[in-house]
Amino acid sequence: MRRILVTGAAGQIGSELTPRLRELYGGENVVATFHIKKLGEDLLSSGPCEHLDVTDAKRLREIVEEYDIDSIFHLAAILSAKGEQKPQLAWHVNMSGLYNVLEVARELELRVFYPSSIAVFSPETPRDMTPQLTVMRPRTIYGVTKLAGELLCDYYHNRFGVDVRGVRYPGVISYKTPPGGGTTDYAVEMFYAAVKGEPYTCFVREDTVLPMIYMPDCIKAAIQLMEADAERLTRHADYNLASMSFSAGELAEEIRKHIPDFKVVYKPDYRQRIADTWPRSIDDSAARRDWGWKPSYGLAEMTRDMIENLRRRLEEGLL
Ligand code: NAD
Ligand code: SER
Repeated sequence: MRRILVTGAAGQIGSELTPRLRELYGGENVVATFHIKKLGEDLLSSGPCEHLDVTDAKRLREIVEEYDIDSIFHLAAILSAKGEQKPQLAWHVNMSGLYNVLEVARELELRVFYPSSIAVFSPETPRDMTPQLTVMRPRTIYGVTKLAGELLCDYYHNRFGVDVRGVRYPGVISYKTPPGGGTTDYAVEMFYAAVKGEPYTCFVREDTVLPMIYMPDCIKAAIQLMEADAERLTRHADYNLASMSFSAGELAEEIRKHIPDFKVVYKPDYRQRIADTWPRSIDDSAARRDWGWKPSYGLAEMTRDMIENLRRRLEEGLL
């Protein structure tokens, strides 16, 4: 990778992946693109930035040509909870956006990173140590688009030789940019409430277990996979990825080791039904075997780091 374009760079993952890419490949070589949600000052001042609606194929191609891009990290999407509020928008953004990215990648021989999700799975899928290849009948529009996206990526690889790579991310936990409307957002919201000294009303049951990953591992996975030797990859855009799994109650308990009077009440809403269709834990042996995937953070290390950083941000007036 020499000249990189990031879509959805202002989002939860983009706001942290983009600075890391700029550190590694040079600020001027990483173009941060955004739509509606604005980029932070750090991104605006550290390299090129462009407005881009990913459903606009013409503008995408113009930016790719103008900056001589050879790799795209395609993060822009509508996530699961917001997708259930606006299913037509989710289909349009997630499918047209990916199609436009794959088309420009086919025409100009670009490499693509595609972040799929545990949302591709469904109630019929084995929920513990979910295998790489298994039954997938997603019930959310987000899951439907992510699974269709994986298949489209495979098609572009097999039919046109596009080098497209991706992982099925678990819920991502981070402290810099709040998540943008997913079902796993409760895990992040719990930390924000605890550090501000507020009680938290959790929108899933206490016993809800989902796979999660801490942002440094999320970024490490994307870059490691994109840098991996293509010869060693047995899959394309659908590597299962695991890091840690815990229930909402276990997370609250872990937070209480640092903030003993933290209180949580559980009031499940429509997002409980989504969470109930997703796996509890993931078998990621293909990622470990093919490109050496190994997460660095478990629940205890992640919780300590989240609380330290959110406390610092609170003191700086950033929360
Ligand atoms: P996010 O919602 O925080 O960010 C997505 C960004 O896409 C937002 O900044 C939004 O403005 C932008 N966007 C929306 N419509 C757009 C359009 N038409 N054109 C261009 N940009 C548009 O999401 P995120 O958490 O940063 O997720 C990034 C990617 O990772 C997504 O594809 C998501 O499906 C995937 N993913 C995320 C998680 C997670 O827990 N965060 C888990 C699995 C997969
Ligand atoms: N964290 C995401 C969501 O909840 C999963 O892709 O939508």
